[in-house]
Amino acid sequence: MKEKSVIISGTGSYVPEKILTNDDISKFVDTSDEWIYTRSGIKERRIAAKDEAASDMALISARRALENANLKPQDMDLVIVTTVNPDMLFPSTACILQAKLGIRNNIPCFDIEAACSGFVYGLEVASKMMKSGYYKNALVVSTEKMSSMVDWQDRGTCVLFGDGSGAAVLSVCDEKDVGILDTVLGADGSDTATLKMPAGGSLMPPTKETVEGRLHFLQMNGREVFKHAVKIMGEKSFEVIERYGIEPGQINLLIPHQANTRIIESVAKRLKLPMEKVFVNIEKYGNTSSASIPIALDEALKAGKIKKGDYILFVAFGAGLTWGATLVKWH
Ligand code: ACO
Repeated sequence: MKEKSVIISGTGSYVPEKILTNDDISKFVDTSDEWIYTRSGIKERRIAAKDEAASDMALISARRALENANLKPQDMDLVIVTTVNPDMLFPSTACILQAKLGIRNNIPCFDIEAACSGFVYGLEVASKMMKSGYYKNALVVSTEKMSSMVDWQDRGTCVLFGDGSGAAVLSVCDEKDVGILDTVLGADGSDTATLKMPAGGSLMPPTKETVEGRLHFLQMNGREVFKHAVKIMGEKSFEVIERYGIEPGQINLLIPHQANTRIIESVAKRLKLPMEKVFVNIEKYGNTSSASIPIALDEALKAGKIKKGDYILFVAFGAGLTWGATLVKWH
């Protein structure tokens, strides 16, 4: 069977209205705008409303991506949602989104949980399912309400994260050597302690003790994550570029997971890419986990930073530990 190319035919994003600045945070934990900005590059982040769930944000970004692709919800053959803050443990947020979008019932809808690498994992799974041509259009929506799982008493983590959603419509096409060219994915489950939310699952179901012990919040060893991220994002960027057979200098735009400006700068330096070829919006949104790359992609397109024929590189890492890099040639 002749394999199809899979292109990103539409993008959309959504961030909640409410802005929480570094100065706002310094009113309730012992921190400062200067500390947060110099260590992470973050100035402010968006915070979802109390009754605004991950699927609500996903709905808006998905509708925007569909409109951008000039397609209708009924045209979709597959829905994948990536999130670490699902509306609930089950049913999947993808099924909830399917119903909210009014998509016909007989298509596969499922969530992928690969933490901040979720969007890259989602692109790989969707595009491999589509290459046969059986699934013609798919929605990959990353949506995160990180404010619901960070410990607002822990200055080491609460300053870093924000809420938002980014979506991509993928479509098959007959043109060769365009769209998603290659992806490298990986994980190292020997290091699950570095970044986790300990309670709430089958290992530690919710009890009075888990709530009082603040075990339903994200816990992170920031220094360890930092070291791992710098190493793995550089390595995996090289791997996918070399495997496809181009040079790092041919990358027109690097869209990295937005976790820390220092991490992003070190990856750009390893690839010898000037910062003009790197899209960074962490200052406005903080780390929105798996939503960060599709939000950045949508903003980069709207800002006119991507044109036909450009090589775009996505690279991410996250809890698990997981990682992924995707090389795209814009159509
Ligand atoms: N304000 C002021 N001081 C603080 C704060 C804060 N918000 N947070 C920590 N500190 C203090 C620490 O207590 C420490 O004090 P000490 O030296 O007296 O013990 C000092 O600042 C330095 O702390 P470090 O952890 O060494 O600071 P570092 O330079 O490593 O920066 C940071 C911390 C920003 C967390 C960095 O390590 C980082 O970005 N790591 C990666 C995090 C990341 O990317 N996480 C996302 C993972 S993706 C996912 O899957 C969710």
